[in-house]
Amino acid sequence: MSSSKSKKKSHKILQVETFPLPSTLSRMTSIWELANSQLRDITVYEAGKPIEETARELGGDPGAIIKLASNENPLGPSPKAIQAMRAALEDAHLYPDGSGFYLCKAIAAKLGLAPENIILGNGSNEALEFLGHAFLDGMRQDEVIASEYAFVVYKLIATSFGARMIEVPSPSYQQDLEAMLEAITPRTRLIFIPNPNNPTGTLISQREIDTFVSRVPEQVIVVFDEAYFEFLDNPPDTLRFVREGRNWTWVGRSTHRLRYCVAGRDRCASQNKAAIQREQHRASWRACGVGG
Ligand SMILES: Cc1ncc(COP(=O)(O)O)c(C=O)c1O
Repeated sequence: MSSSKSKKKSHKILQVETFPLPSTLSRMTSIWELANSQLRDITVYEAGKPIEETARELGGDPGAIIKLASNENPLGPSPKAIQAMRAALEDAHLYPDGSGFYLCKAIAAKLGLAPENIILGNGSNEALEFLGHAFLDGMRQDEVIASEYAFVVYKLIATSFGARMIEVPSPSYQQDLEAMLEAITPRTRLIFIPNPNNPTGTLISQREIDTFVSRVPEQVIVVFDEAYFEFLDNPPDTLRFVREGRNWTWVGRSTHRLRYCVAGRDRCASQNKAAIQREQHRASWRACGVGG
């Protein structure tokens, strides 16, 4: 065996040809040149600070602070929910049932509908976002209608999917359904109606809803966002439109970050495809150890 001292290694000298960077790359100064342009216009939602951070800033006791920034339950989670979550941890080594098979069946039975009418979301916002995935196309110059002062997420969804947001003026903070009807064009895809609305707290009556729905063209999807349905003594019945096969979408809410939305079966199918797609992305992120 020859020693390294006795035999010098000969290295080949490679002639490496260098190319100038394409002019587009050399001029790129910001990541925004690559990002979808509509994202520039989105104002990022600012979530409330953690309780511990507020306590640290004010030099107080975290236990003495009540968070009112979001929809939290000051009574804490239901003991039944805690029990169910503990039991579910035993199966944490398995993929969760992304389709929510039993849950869809249970919600459908409670509402007197079929499981195919139910879409589950990780929060109402996600169920609302599925509408964007399923129905909005910026290239088609789709339009979305909602009232001025309506829940802010509708605008974020429309903008994220490159659709044009039409905000109808809101005299005295009420949603003006008549003006919303007048704003409909052949490009209108979705009309969002939060009932009651957040942040104004205004409520639209059954009579107003019935008149409105009877005048909306069939190709436009009306989204009744009923996130606060459970707080109403006498909530308007919008499920009747789904039962009548009118295909209007209805969004409801239950507890523990899980929300459901009800719609005609074919609209559910398209939204569920969007949901499945999202779930698959999440599963890949989880596999990489990211979020989920
Ligand atoms: C009208 C309305 N819809 C939907 C949501 C989103 O709810 P979630 O926390 O379930 O995503 C909210 C939350 O504030 C809301 O006010």
